[in-house]
Amino acid sequence: MTTTLITGANKGLGFETARRLIAAGHTVYVGSRDAERGRLAAERLGARHVRLDVTDDASVAAAVTAVEAGGGLDVLVNNAGIEARKDDGGVFGAAEVTADLMRTTFETNVFGLVRVTHAFLPLLRRSPSPVVVNVSSGLASLTGVTTEGSPAYAYPGVAYPASKSAVNMVTVQFAKAFPGMRINAVEPGFTATDLNGRTGTQTVEEGAEIIVRMAQVGPDGPTGGYVDASGPLPW
Ligand SMILES: NC(=O)c1ccc[n+]([C@@H]2O[C@H](COP(=O)([O-])OP(=O)(O)OC[C@H]3O[C@@H](n4cnc5c(N)ncnc54)[C@H](OP(=O)(O)O)[C@@H]3O)[C@@H](O)[C@H]2O)c1
Repeated sequence: MTTTLITGANKGLGFETARRLIAAGHTVYVGSRDAERGRLAAERLGARHVRLDVTDDASVAAAVTAVEAGGGLDVLVNNAGIEARKDDGGVFGAAEVTADLMRTTFETNVFGLVRVTHAFLPLLRRSPSPVVVNVSSGLASLTGVTTEGSPAYAYPGVAYPASKSAVNMVTVQFAKAFPGMRINAVEPGFTATDLNGRTGTQTVEEGAEIIVRMAQVGPDGPTGGYVDASGPLPW
């Protein structure tokens, strides 16, 4: 039996990933920073739930205790993420971004991911086949944002793509440090969720595809990669 924790799984890509992994036979913990939203989502899915705010040490420590008491962890999906938006739905470009906006974005997308991964390492190390999936973005790619004509090139925001580039770096360094684990960064693609005011062009079913696939890699599967549904992406 494979036990999987997905952060930010009360809605969006995390919720759909939970649905698919339960169908594939995983025991899934829906991580949610709001206990009630998590409980309701887990009830709809037939999942377990655990309160987990990735920005909060005490919340993460309590989640580790709960998951350990439940039997341990094999797969961690670091999915929780935020993207700051203006009232008109636009993102904050280079002339508008502030240190505070960068800090807030990194607090969830980068420091939160590291906090959760670090806290669950002891449980993952006890698994016979530990897997970590870091939900990155196509906007993390320095090649993408500097290649005229690519979808990422036109995106003017600073904090969100910088945070996801950091996620890619964290992924690579963790993968090198823990060769017994499969640790990969994935790009779901532009998906209609609350993150982007539902402007994404893909469904959550399409977006969750690569998250679900990389959550199921075996001990001989890839590690240290950055992939979307069609294969490896340029860094
Ligand atoms: N949608 C896209 O086009 C797209 C493309 C590439 C990558 N991604 C990435 O995919 C991931 C999922 O995003 P989504 O599109 O599904 O967005 P979403 O529907 O807004 O879901 C984001 C999830 O993260 C949770 N979250 C935010 N801050 C948190 C915190 N401090 N602690 C715990 N959970 C927290 C949210 O919880 P609440 O409900 O409590 O806010 C929600 O469950 C993110 O990492 C995002 O960057 C999305």
